Amino acid sequence: MSLSALHVRVFQPEDAAAAVALWRDCGVLRPWNDPYKDIARKATVQPELFLVVTAAAGPAAQEALVATAMAGYDGHRGSVYYLAVAPDRQRLAIGRMLMAAVEERLLALGCPKLHVLVRSSNLQVLDFYRKLGYQAEEALCLGKRLIPDQ
Ligand SMILES: CC(C)(COP(=O)(O)OP(=O)(O)OC[C@H]1O[C@@H](n2cnc3c(N)ncnc32)[C@H](O)[C@@H]1OP(=O)(O)O)[C@@H](O)C(=O)NCCC(=O)NCCS
Repeated sequence: MSLSALHVRVFQPEDAAAAVALWRDCGVLRPWNDPYKDIARKATVQPELFLVVTAAAGPAAQEALVATAMAGYDGHRGSVYYLAVAPDRQRLAIGRMLMAAVEERLLALGCPKLHVLVRSSNLQVLDFYRKLGYQAEEALCLGKRLIPDQ
């Protein structure tokens, strides 16, 4: 598949079911996160930074959603969540292309640095980010849930 057949655009509400199915296939769903609530929240804050990659698919050349990245910029750092490429489209440089699109948009907003959260056990994703120029930093991520989803 040629990369030119792919299209990066902003997530639209009609993409929700396909995005959640993709996240399920990619193993990025967590029981404590309701993906539909995550999508609804993103619609209220910088929705233009929620990107998807589509490819023409099927006889009617319908769009298939093949990748997602939910990015944001808080005025100090940028972040990316729900980065996922469909399993049958991985290792084709789509993740690299999508992260380049995210970085381009964050840079245009004046974002000086991007942080990504990767489980330390997820060695393959660590390799992916290293290839893109990201370096591990000495910091522990702490979290506090403000709104339980379940
Ligand atoms: C991580 C992920 C987004 C990478 O997307 P991708 O389209 O397959 O990656 P690319 O093809 O753009 O790869 C970019 C570079 O990373 C490397 N890379 C990608 N996946 C890799 C892997 N599993 N192991 C080692 N290196 C990998 C590629 O070799 C490539 O290097 P190169 O440009 O020097 O050849 C994809 O594997 C994925 O969706 N994984 C499941 C969901 C997930 O874990 N998301 C991250 C949550 S933190």
